[in-house]
Amino acid sequence: MKIAVIGGDGTGPEVTREALKVLAAAAELGGFSYELTDLDWGSERYLKTGEIIPDGGADVLRAHDAIFLGAVGHPDVTPGLIEKGLLLQLRFQLDQYINLRPVKLYPGVETPLAGKGPDDIDFVVVRENTEDLYAGIGGFLKKGTPDEVATQTAIYSRKGCERWLRWAFDFTQKRNNPKGKRLTLVAKNNVLTFGHDLVWRTFQEVARDYPDVEADYNHVDACCMWMVKNPEYYDVIATTNMFGDIITDLGAIIQGGMGVAAGGNINPDSGGTSMYEPMGGSAPKYTGQGVINPMAAIGAMAMLLEHTGQPESGRRVLAAIQSVTGTKMKSQAAGKMGYSTSEVGDLVVEALSSVSATV
Ligand code: IPM
Ligand code: MN
Repeated sequence: MKIAVIGGDGTGPEVTREALKVLAAAAELGGFSYELTDLDWGSERYLKTGEIIPDGGADVLRAHDAIFLGAVGHPDVTPGLIEKGLLLQLRFQLDQYINLRPVKLYPGVETPLAGKGPDDIDFVVVRENTEDLYAGIGGFLKKGTPDEVATQTAIYSRKGCERWLRWAFDFTQKRNNPKGKRLTLVAKNNVLTFGHDLVWRTFQEVARDYPDVEADYNHVDACCMWMVKNPEYYDVIATTNMFGDIITDLGAIIQGGMGVAAGGNINPDSGGTSMYEPMGGSAPKYTGQGVINPMAAIGAMAMLLEHTGQPESGRRVLAAIQSVTGTKMKSQAAGKMGYSTSEVGDLVVEALSSVSATV
């Protein structure tokens, strides 16, 4: 397995180090080998060279089986510049059209939702990752004048909807939730009567090929209420790019915050290269202190393994994470874990050999 590693900025390299430590231990236990390519892409390099992704960078990544990304974002760089120039660029250039974000409350982790536990908060968001308002289509008219007009166009293509929704149905079928297989489309087809009409029609058509999956629908505003009131309702949510961005932050906080939330930018086509990342940012103020929580990064590594031909090792890492949150850590907040960043990595490594990969 060839893995490209972009540690990135701030605390990105620190959490990446722990994820790689866990990868090494998982490979030994799982009997597979891998090669790492360390890439220095990020803000430091940008500040020196003016370049975010080097020329031909996407091709370098395509030659790998997967990408691990720590975090990007730097106080000396205009907010959003690197995020857009690196993260969004790579999603587009590598056509990573699925953004997979599990919302899973691990044992021992505190949720702000009263009376809810790990059995209640366990669903997955399948966010479309290449279209919608993120396509970068728009413009200004009479810019800088009192009569200025700006447009930002959301696009939805039939092909884009179909490949994402088919993947979501497949995923729901394979996830095989014992409580019932349910895919909830989260959109706003009462107001977005063109774009989300296409999404809705495509959803209904694709649903016919999956009679064993309940094809369900929620408006996005109502979904925000249900995610808080009855998160146990959800199995898998399919949603458009912009709504997915918003509801997955809500998802992250109910699963214990940015210290634990992980995601994958997936190109599921054969030969596609996917990128896994902790959902939080680079948290520059904690850089070098050894206090940042590496669990989100380790969770992203579990996802990488799961989706890059080592599902058993991925499940083993996920089980080890849960054993550590459930029996060792005091909190998931930076500086309050009861352990340093590298000690948390060590605990996961230690737990790996005792957990069963079937959890
Ligand atoms: C995310 C982030 C990105 C997004 C930003 C950094 C461009 O918020 O991965 O959810 O909006 O998709
Ligand atoms: Mn986001």
